[in-house]
Amino acid sequence: MADLFLMETLRVLITAGPTYEPLDPVRFIGNHSTGKMGYALAETFAAAGAVVDLISGPTSLPDPASSSIRVQRVQTADEMYAAAAAVAAAADVWVFAAAVADYKPAQVAENKIKKAGDTLTLELVKNVDIAATLGKTKRPEQFSVGFALETNNERAHALEKLQRKNFDLVVLNSLRDPGAGFRHDTNKVTLLGADGAVTTFELKPKTEVAHDIVRTVLARLPHHA
Ligand code: CTP
Repeated sequence: MADLFLMETLRVLITAGPTYEPLDPVRFIGNHSTGKMGYALAETFAAAGAVVDLISGPTSLPDPASSSIRVQRVQTADEMYAAAAAVAAAADVWVFAAAVADYKPAQVAENKIKKAGDTLTLELVKNVDIAATLGKTKRPEQFSVGFALETNNERAHALEKLQRKNFDLVVLNSLRDPGAGFRHDTNKVTLLGADGAVTTFELKPKTEVAHDIVRTVLARLPHHA
């Protein structure tokens, strides 16, 4: 009789892309995130045998072809949070690659806002912090990965986020590095672990950066390495 190997399937939650926060039926506040980093991570985790929930803000990217990736498309931070919270408890790994809008309009106008005076003041209110809120529910065997896009005091800011959001690993992109971050197909990252480990990688295509991140995460998961 052949030996039976029971290998538990790794479940991964990934947030990706921007969020759009509506002002009225035709306008929103958003950002230039393309979603490429999050989608590349989803494909790389799936290729390694994981089952992935990809919660994506509005992007022009097609759904990944892999049947191991379930894509849920959302618009706002509130919708992204609700979709992520619904699958977070069942996931072994969380990757927060989305560029979530920090603020949303206090009111969403029911009809198109008409042009009036010479100035227009918008009141914005803070959005839910998806990573930090889920971070409070993280169990010891779960592993959380965050991103930090910084322009100054990069490592200090990234480590502060790691603690505040209960990450096990933070992926730091410095906007001082040409070719890194938003609107590029390449990225240059430094991985900072909660255990103090620091690894700096060269500028490379986001698909290869995804491999570096996935390899690092899998090596830190005792049961899946
Ligand atoms: N993040 C999130 N929900 C938010 C804001 C951020 O899940 N409302 C996640 C991002 O996906 C990323 C990490 O938190 O993994 C850091 O995002 P960043 O925008 O750099 O952090 P902020 O807390 O918004 O800090 P600041 O903008 O002040 O630098």
